[in-house]
Amino acid sequence: MLLFTEGLSSQREIIAGIKSLYPSLFIVSTHSQERPEIHEFSDANQFEPQNADERLSFLRDTIRKYEIKLLHAGKHTLWYEEHRSRIESLGVTLVTGVSDVEMFEIADSKIRFARLMEQYRLPVVPSIEITHADQLETELKARPFGDDALHCVKPVKGIYGMGFWKLSDEIPAARCFYDTDSRMANVGVFLHAMKLSEDFKPLVLMPYLDGPERSVDMVVQAGKVIKAVARVKKGSYQFFENQGPAIDLAIACASVINADGIVNVQTRNAPDGSPVLLEINLRPSGGIGYLAHSGINLPALFVQTFLGLEPSVVATGSLVPNVMVRPLTQAIVI
Ligand SMILES: Nc1ncnc2c1ncn2[C@@H]1O[C@H](COP(=O)(O)OP(=O)(O)O)[C@@H](O)[C@H]1O
Ligand SMILES: [Mg+2]
Repeated sequence: MLLFTEGLSSQREIIAGIKSLYPSLFIVSTHSQERPEIHEFSDANQFEPQNADERLSFLRDTIRKYEIKLLHAGKHTLWYEEHRSRIESLGVTLVTGVSDVEMFEIADSKIRFARLMEQYRLPVVPSIEITHADQLETELKARPFGDDALHCVKPVKGIYGMGFWKLSDEIPAARCFYDTDSRMANVGVFLHAMKLSEDFKPLVLMPYLDGPERSVDMVVQAGKVIKAVARVKKGSYQFFENQGPAIDLAIACASVINADGIVNVQTRNAPDGSPVLLEINLRPSGGIGYLAHSGINLPALFVQTFLGLEPSVVATGSLVPNVMVRPLTQAIVI
């Protein structure tokens, strides 16, 4: 009765979370690639067509076959939003993370996102749009965030932290090649590479914020946050919070975006200690599975909310105090 289509690998933990509380709920997961680990806890799985033209008939068949009531779309959000009324006419509640195409596109662009948050007076990292390498050079010379600030860049459209670099003249020229994890690049080297590149991708220029960083996972229905849990990043460790200024900010942000589903907001603290927004991800985060140790089962709460099940205190849970977790890489037999 519940269908998960292709999404991030954390789908595995989401399904496990639901099953731990609602073991008899029938869950189908689909993916366009061979991903047995994602399907491990589902009751049935299927290959999803890669070709978008075949997607609607695939969904129709799958929804009929398993009498699906709730469809959680992972990837292809735009396609699902464009076909929302046709999919819902098949008798399912569709959850994509968002309520319309425009808000998806705003969240997809870190510049448009920052401008919208500013409009609503929500603190967001100061963001300058860079559309070509020469402009980056000019802006960096002007030190828009002050002489003492460390400046950094990331792609306007990005994921997984790819393309995030701290830039400074003080950094040894070759450091970015042998110490990639430091995310430090020499300004001259970076500009040189960007000027050589024929397909310059727009960047956001920002001040580097020391942190700490918070990743706030939320169940949201039509912009209304049902529950939010923050994972506070402390070196390699994370701990949980269920209240505080970062959570208040994340809730306000999800409401402006009219988020709908399991979504994630990231914040970092400004030098004065107050949180500012980095981005909203209109999908479950990669780390949502860590919440299994928090006492709060957001995946189960998602199902409870969107299937309209009897509210269960167990699903909502309460925060277990003083839990610290460390993400590990593990191997499973497939
Ligand atoms: N202004 C900033 N100051 C410090 N760290 C940042 C800043 N912007 C991004 N980061 C770091 O880069 C990571 C990726 O940035 P984010 O905005 O989450 O983009 P994405 O996850 O889509 O790549 C963040 O988790 C954070 O650690
Ligand atoms: Mg991010």
